[in-house]
Amino acid sequence: MNSNTRTRVLTGITTTGTPHLGNYVGAIRPTVHASRDTQTDGFYFLADYHALIKCDEPARIQRSTLEIAASWIASGLDPDKVTFYRQSDIPEIPELTWLLTCVTGKGVLNRAHAYKAAVDKNNAAGHDPDSDVSAGLFMYPVLMGADILMFKAHKVPVGRDQIQHIEMARDMASSFNHLYDEHFVLPEAVIEESVALLPGLDGRKMSKSYDNTIPLFAPAAQMRKQIAGIVTDSKAPGEPKATEGSALFQIYQAFASAEETAAMARAYAEGIGWGDAKQMLFERIDREIAPMREHYQALVSNPAKMDQILLAGADKARQLATPFMRELRHAVGLRNLSSGSAAPVAKEAKTALPSFKQYRESNGQFYFKMVDAKGQILLQSLGFASPKEAGQAIARLQTEGAQALKALEPSLETLTTSARQSAVSNLQLLQEARQGQEN
Ligand code: TRP
Repeated sequence: MNSNTRTRVLTGITTTGTPHLGNYVGAIRPTVHASRDTQTDGFYFLADYHALIKCDEPARIQRSTLEIAASWIASGLDPDKVTFYRQSDIPEIPELTWLLTCVTGKGVLNRAHAYKAAVDKNNAAGHDPDSDVSAGLFMYPVLMGADILMFKAHKVPVGRDQIQHIEMARDMASSFNHLYDEHFVLPEAVIEESVALLPGLDGRKMSKSYDNTIPLFAPAAQMRKQIAGIVTDSKAPGEPKATEGSALFQIYQAFASAEETAAMARAYAEGIGWGDAKQMLFERIDREIAPMREHYQALVSNPAKMDQILLAGADKARQLATPFMRELRHAVGLRNLSSGSAAPVAKEAKTALPSFKQYRESNGQFYFKMVDAKGQILLQSLGFASPKEAGQAIARLQTEGAQALKALEPSLETLTTSARQSAVSNLQLLQEARQGQEN
């Protein structure tokens, strides 16, 4: 395989916190494993521009960048085998963000979950809908689209909450390709179903926002102390304990082999005391983490070395980004005035046809939307129970055109008069094009 056909896997990590065991089990460990696949090219980066959306503490962003970079390397990511870089070292990323901004419908961004959640919260509190919502939060999906499209990533491993962003990146890529010819690869989200969600100290999902985390590379003594703080029931030593619903057991399982887990389950049944169970958990985690801890400490105590590693990664990344950005600038008309013809051009009579996109939402229902070439949404369906029903509705619109609109309206989001007009004229365009093809 040559470098053009190898699968590219890319993911970013927002630099706003200190990595904890949940990040390790859920993201770092599986990604480091995947990065050793010699059939793929890995791109892993520190999303520090994204961090600015959530965090206005400069020292914290700097520290987090150092800690996350050191954690990934100490956990086994090999910067010589993958491209490991800091987003803000790639000036082409914000440059591409602007080009994508110009092919992204504002209405599409209105629908982004993170933005919508902020608006819903404001509405519920009786505030202005956009109160405390920065344009950065609103634009977040476009920046993320630039991260992904810049490196022509095929696969993007992310959490479920990020699927919509990958869908949007696909839409940006197809709008751009439609307007300016094929430049971008359409990325796909990869959801790791088998990776466990780690519970935190209080039994809820381990997350910085619940303040229930165990830092990945805390000194051993601190880790032991925190593990001692995991909530359990009040059963005395000797009483049988339930593994189900036990945060301690689940965390153990995330580090142990199947045999070790079975042995722990037996110990629960035989009434192991919580103190002993916690000691076993500490020892098991420490066996995996201790050898990396030293490496981590060496890396964070030498930030200049870390800078060097990241800058070398940025160099590698820019060997792709710089020429690609040159190509994209040329494609949109940001060109040397003396290159080619700068003569006035008649607007190409390219009829920009609308297209249909079908997708599934996290509620399990199936949806479609009709979008014009600029990615502007013309029709948005409500949820269908099956992909077949959604497909049938699309087929009707494609064959019957505007005439099908009336019958289908109950399955669509309400249309304003002007939205209806542009939907109708786009459906007409589509039908004319179809008839043209048939003749
Ligand atoms: N938004 C992602 C998150 O919060 C981080 C991220 C930024 C990312 N850019 C990306 C992930 C590009 C994958 C691809 O998890």
